[in-house]
Amino acid sequence: MYWCAGLSALRAGEFTGFEPNSAWSPYAKSNITAILKDARLIKGTFEENLAEAPDSIDLAFIDAIHTPEFVDTQLNLVLERSHKGTLIVLDDIRFSTEMSDYWLQVRDDARFSAAFEFTRRVGFLEFSG
Ligand SMILES: C[S@@+](CC[C@H](N)C(=O)[O-])C[C@H]1O[C@@H](n2cnc3c(N)ncnc32)[C@H](O)[C@@H]1O
Repeated sequence: MYWCAGLSALRAGEFTGFEPNSAWSPYAKSNITAILKDARLIKGTFEENLAEAPDSIDLAFIDAIHTPEFVDTQLNLVLERSHKGTLIVLDDIRFSTEMSDYWLQVRDDARFSAAFEFTRRVGFLEFSG
């Protein structure tokens, strides 16, 4: 919603989100479209609805299932649609020992030109293109 407020203020850019939980999806949609009326909230998983994802992503927020396998799958799908400078934000990077180990590995991955961690919770990756 914060980012949608930025897009709304700029009158530029697009937002697409994915939520498979059918009980939560309508709330996510109404909250987000209250901020940015053209925001798209897809009811379903990201992986099963790639056709709905933008061809070119500037900023991605990954905050679904906090396991390395799951995050890595989504990260790679995002990278297929990324360009030099795309920013990818991972939430709950210290969710578990496995996620902490994954973060330490991915932050040194040569595909990223920069990586930093904020408040031991959020990881930022800049795609090198
Ligand atoms: C930790 S919550 C975070 C929700 C939201 N980002 C927030 O901060 O309020 C994780 C969300 O990811 C959704 N989710 C689970 N699997 C997903 C998938 N494959 N693709 C997209 N979203 C998924 C869940 O239904 C849940 O709403």
